Amino acid sequence: MRLKGVVLAGGLGKRLHPLTKITNKHLLPVFCKPMIYYPIQTLVDAGIKDILIVTGGRHAGEFLRLLGNGAEFGLKHINYTYQEGEGGIAEALSLAEHFADNDRIVVILGDNIIEKGIKRSVDEFRLQPKGAKILIKKVDDPERFGVVELEGKRIVSIEEKPKKAKSDYIVTGIYMYDNQVFDIIKGLKPSKRGELEITDVNNAYLKKRELTYSILDGWWTDSGTFDSLLRANNLVAKSEAKRANCI
Ligand code: G1P
Repeated sequence: MRLKGVVLAGGLGKRLHPLTKITNKHLLPVFCKPMIYYPIQTLVDAGIKDILIVTGGRHAGEFLRLLGNGAEFGLKHINYTYQEGEGGIAEALSLAEHFADNDRIVVILGDNIIEKGIKRSVDEFRLQPKGAKILIKKVDDPERFGVVELEGKRIVSIEEKPKKAKSDYIVTGIYMYDNQVFDIIKGLKPSKRGELEITDVNNAYLKKRELTYSILDGWWTDSGTFDSLLRANNLVAKSEAKRANCI
């Protein structure tokens, strides 16, 4: 089955001001590469060659200058689209409908950096008859994320940034969807922070009993705050495999 990849790299990066006043968050350095290199490489390593970058804001043109047609990743071509304003992750994803063209998609947030790969989970999703699959991870500070409530091995709810987390497992920014995702997004209402939330998309699949998950292997971090950006830099710097890509 053909799978396409979507990297979400929009937003204003407000949590990183003033670092993001004159550039896009996903272009900031993480050790020896711009941040967005890592999620693109994650998709490429999983065997995905059709990739769309969704970006926005005043620095969108820089992505084209930096990545071009993706030769550095062994790609022949990269697709780009532009998000007006800041409508949230699910709104950014809705811009991928034309690109997906009824194929399934693997979505990764442009600030998510992982130690190992996602190929096994992606291959499992290829065999899944329909629905969605998320990658989850145990963390020390679950309240910052979409928190997964588990009963045994079953997910019973996902709460976006709850005051008190019901578990230490969170939804990473790696999601796999079939083509129902775009209709689901069309039915969403903005959350309290005025955004279309990816957690609402995942809960819609959960309600239909079409949501599966895997626990991500190796370390995972986002890099959208001062602390997580520093953590991302340190984790990459300490990884032999990642350092090997620094030339
Ligand atoms: C977003 C999602 C959240 C997820 C996180 C992973 O949070 O809303 O559910 O756990 O990405 O990086 P945000 O970075 O928008 O705060």
